[in-house]
Amino acid sequence: MGSSELLRVGCAFLVLQLIPGTAGWGKDGHYATCKIAEEFLTEEASAAVKSLLPDYADGQLANVCSWPDEIRHSYRWRWTGPLHYIDVPDFVCNYNYCRDCHDPARHKDVCVTGAIYNYTRQLGSTYYDPSPEIKYNLTEALLFLSHFMGDVHQPLHVGFTGDEGGNTIIVRWYHRKANLHHVWDNMIIDSALKTFYASDLSNMIQAIQRNITDGSFNDVPSWGNCTLAELACPDPYASESINLACKFAYKNATPGTTLGDEYFLSRLPIVEKRLAQGGVRLAATLNRIFTPKSSIAQI
Ligand SMILES: *[C@@H]1O[C@H](CO)[C@@H](O)[C@H](O)[C@H]1NC(C)=O
Ligand SMILES: *[C@@H]1O[C@H](CO)[C@@H](O)[C@H](O)[C@H]1NC(C)=O
Ligand SMILES: *[C@@H]1O[C@H](CO)[C@@H](O)[C@H](O)[C@H]1NC(C)=O
Ligand SMILES: *[C@@H]1O[C@H](CO)[C@@H](O)[C@H](O)[C@H]1NC(C)=O
Ligand SMILES: [Zn+2]
Repeated sequence: MGSSELLRVGCAFLVLQLIPGTAGWGKDGHYATCKIAEEFLTEEASAAVKSLLPDYADGQLANVCSWPDEIRHSYRWRWTGPLHYIDVPDFVCNYNYCRDCHDPARHKDVCVTGAIYNYTRQLGSTYYDPSPEIKYNLTEALLFLSHFMGDVHQPLHVGFTGDEGGNTIIVRWYHRKANLHHVWDNMIIDSALKTFYASDLSNMIQAIQRNITDGSFNDVPSWGNCTLAELACPDPYASESINLACKFAYKNATPGTTLGDEYFLSRLPIVEKRLAQGGVRLAATLNRIFTPKSSIAQI
């Protein structure tokens, strides 16, 4: 499949003015998403993932889930920048694949949901066929898929074009100057670690995992569902993200605002739920790819 092949058909062409956005969950957010996913993999999927991991991952997917952020500014990988996010029209609180999934130069399918379809398809079509016409690097496909599944759950990764998903909205996070996108990538998680988890990410991950398994998140069994009988279903995740961006991220966070306890304490549960959903859905997707007989995550 060439990069220009349409991943979804029937997209109408629209002309809009675009400015790129940037970034993703920070290192901790990606680690958490992938660590949660690893817990819910089937045996077959876990073995397949391990066989594709590079040596320096030390057998753990979570150790390499930030790889796409580490390489994206190098010359060879610069083209992957727009795969980390989606920009929707300003003040439009919904997402539409055909309207929104393109890069700033309007190349179709070049956005985070397009990339999830792309790398899922590469893994699904190539893993069991040792001699396809085009050989994809399945290690890269696995790391991109695992990273982008995290990104699509960060609400401001599906944000407005004009403010680059909150990157140009400068606020104060307590006493520190920060942009709103960074607050959602890193600062809410950092503050939570210090305030509630003794500065230990594994405590936070365990608390999220407990909530996934003990029913504290009330709709877990449906999170991994993929209604179209496809391997991946990222479109609803992007719709949820822009919805949460409007309701919680952008709300009461105009330029110059100081965000403190009220914003932090009311938004932290959203962040924790999105990390949980990213993990469960990554596991469900990898299970569908690598465990074809069972189409449902074992949760
Ligand atoms: C799909 O993956 C291939 C291999 O990395 C890449 O060349 C292509 O640009 C990707 N397309 C999208 C939409 O992610
Ligand atoms: C696959 O990609 C990884 C990461 O870019 C690279 O280290 C590895 O050498 C590649 N494998 C092959 C067979 O090209
Ligand atoms: C776990 O669920 C409880 C009860 O709903 C909630 O108060 C707490 O914030 C949740 N913690 C995490 C890490 O999701
Ligand atoms: C998700 O899948 C489970 C298991 O098949 C099923 O019980 C549930 O009704 C599905 N939920 C939705 C929202 O489709
Ligand atoms: Zn990213």
